[in-house]
Amino acid sequence: MSDSFENAVNVLTQAKKAVALTGAGISVESGIPPFRGKGGLWEKIDPMKYAHIDAFLEDPKTVWDVLIKNMKTVLDKAHPNAAHTGLADLEQLGILQTVITQNVDGLHQRAGNRDVIEFHGSFARMHCQSCDWAIETAQVDLSEIPPRCGCGGFLRPDCIFFGELIPHEALFRSQQVSAACDVMLVIGTSATVQPAASMPFIARDNGAVVIEINPEPTSLTQRISHLPLMGAAGTILPRLVGTIRQRLATP
Ligand code: APR
Repeated sequence: MSDSFENAVNVLTQAKKAVALTGAGISVESGIPPFRGKGGLWEKIDPMKYAHIDAFLEDPKTVWDVLIKNMKTVLDKAHPNAAHTGLADLEQLGILQTVITQNVDGLHQRAGNRDVIEFHGSFARMHCQSCDWAIETAQVDLSEIPPRCGCGGFLRPDCIFFGELIPHEALFRSQQVSAACDVMLVIGTSATVQPAASMPFIARDNGAVVIEINPEPTSLTQRISHLPLMGAAGTILPRLVGTIRQRLATP
């Protein structure tokens, strides 16, 4: 067992209000490709042409054809993996308080976590770009692309496009819990997109221990992460939870 892993077990076993910041990497083992790095979606399509609000306003059909339809196909098949389950276990153990996720796949909630901040929104719901009328994604009639609202406007997922603001409530609460946490688990994120990537800095500045889980080093690894655990989340998290359970069971 590496020193970092052992130290992470010790720190998490004592933690009472840990917070996790998760990114696309935690869902890779659920079959959802990341955005950057090996097999990344943005290596195949230009996010500024297909994932920016201006692109949607200018040509909603192309954004639906190139990005949104494919996202729905992938997300409809995805299920929580051992990493998501591991975070739900940490909540059950009274160690983890909140998950701040950049993902829109809803897998943390399906794994059992009850306090999840969807920092970039959710693909589970859609709304009309013109009148804000809302509908569950599963109810949307996809016989016409882009699907329209009764008012004639175009429907789009409740996900934050590039060029749009993070919902105030999500941003404010994420900053609050990051400032108050005793441990921040940073899992499966390249930490390249702001303001999500500022949360580990806020946590560290307020005295939290930062544990990073990622097969690759990121811009945080040398600067912010006290305990970098290099590897896949689906392997590391269950191992952490299993060792913590043993530690807690041993008087
Ligand atoms: N376990 C843990 N981490 C992994 C795994 C895995 N099995 N596989 C890949 N990773 C790591 C990669 O090394 C990378 O650092 O996950 C990270 C994924 O990075 P990105 O694809 O950039 O995803 P993310 O950080 O969530 O992107 C942030 O950018 O495009 C926007 O809105 C989008 O929410 C997204 C935001």
